[in-house]
Amino acid sequence: MKVLVTDPIADAGVDRLGEAGFDVVTAYDAEGERLQGLVRDANALVVRSGTQVDAALLDAAPELVIVGRAGIGVDNIDIDAATDRGVVVANAPEGNVRAAAEHTVAMAFAAARSIPQAHIRLTDGEWAKGEFLGTELNGKTLGIVGLGRVGQEVAKKLGNVGMDLVAYDPYISASRADQLGAELADLETVLDRADFCTVHTPLTPETENLIGEAELDRLAGGYLVNCARGGIVDEPALAAAVADGTLKGAALDVFADEPLDPDSPLLDVEDVVVTPHLGASTEAAQENVATSIADQVVAAIEEEPVVNA
Ligand code: NAD
Ligand code: MLT
Repeated sequence: MKVLVTDPIADAGVDRLGEAGFDVVTAYDAEGERLQGLVRDANALVVRSGTQVDAALLDAAPELVIVGRAGIGVDNIDIDAATDRGVVVANAPEGNVRAAAEHTVAMAFAAARSIPQAHIRLTDGEWAKGEFLGTELNGKTLGIVGLGRVGQEVAKKLGNVGMDLVAYDPYISASRADQLGAELADLETVLDRADFCTVHTPLTPETENLIGEAELDRLAGGYLVNCARGGIVDEPALAAAVADGTLKGAALDVFADEPLDPDSPLLDVEDVVVTPHLGASTEAAQENVATSIADQVVAAIEEEPVVNA
């Protein structure tokens, strides 16, 4: 049985697949015809966000039983096409939640205190102490868009920092929000009230460009943090809103096209902090998701129930 791994996962996951007796082939830079050739005799395919698992790739993989996503987001996998071909799609929705929430909190502080900008000035030899006047999170209002696993973890962490919480999520109960100390409201109200807005929805047709120019205008004077998925926030509109001072700043870990184009307008705006999709990049999170997805691949190939965990 062959398991093809096309995005880097922790060794613990690869080892677990090997110990289960599978022939594990790692091919982290494969694309196009080479990828199609490699997947031809694969019984399982393991990916993160880098590999686009579309109908053409699935058609090139007649032996495939399961596509395992070592992480949360499955927007890079055509689930309908997989289902049509009888291929199971599994993800690891728990293992990197804390890492993603911590990165979101770190990005909010980084933007509020201009930490990357000050670091660059100092490593360039400039003691720019008088040029950075930050914003405290304590006593401010956090608007949370998407109150799922990561959003709830961020609510707990930033609630403990002393922020008031208001959230938009049409699919969560008011009682769950209440347990977290968050008030549910519509998107417009959340943006009107928020000093900081963090985004935690999946990328779906409904959430694509959910936050565009009009929504950013409502957040005027605030900060926008997106460590969920590129495409939820309109990037040119965000770059313009920070550049013209509508927003004080923004912090992004994810982009509509990854890797981010070096010519992106986001990179020209000093008060936009960026990281290269690092939300889940902690040792613990990577080990969690890699071993979780390995267990699910083993289960699928051995015709046992696959439980996304
Ligand atoms: P989740 O499914 O647990 O939560 C998503 C929440 O969004 C749900 O509560 C859902 O009801 C809500 N939602 C869906 N559509 C909505 C809409 N139109 N408006 C408002 N809310 C809506 O997912 P999660 O585990 O919390 O992950 C959140 C996001 O973070 C995902 O996009 C995931 O891919 C991303 N993520 C990124 C990283 C990273 O490395 N940057 C790491 C982990 C997760
Ligand atoms: C996820 O959805 O889990 C994130 O994109 C993390 C990742 O795999 O980089």
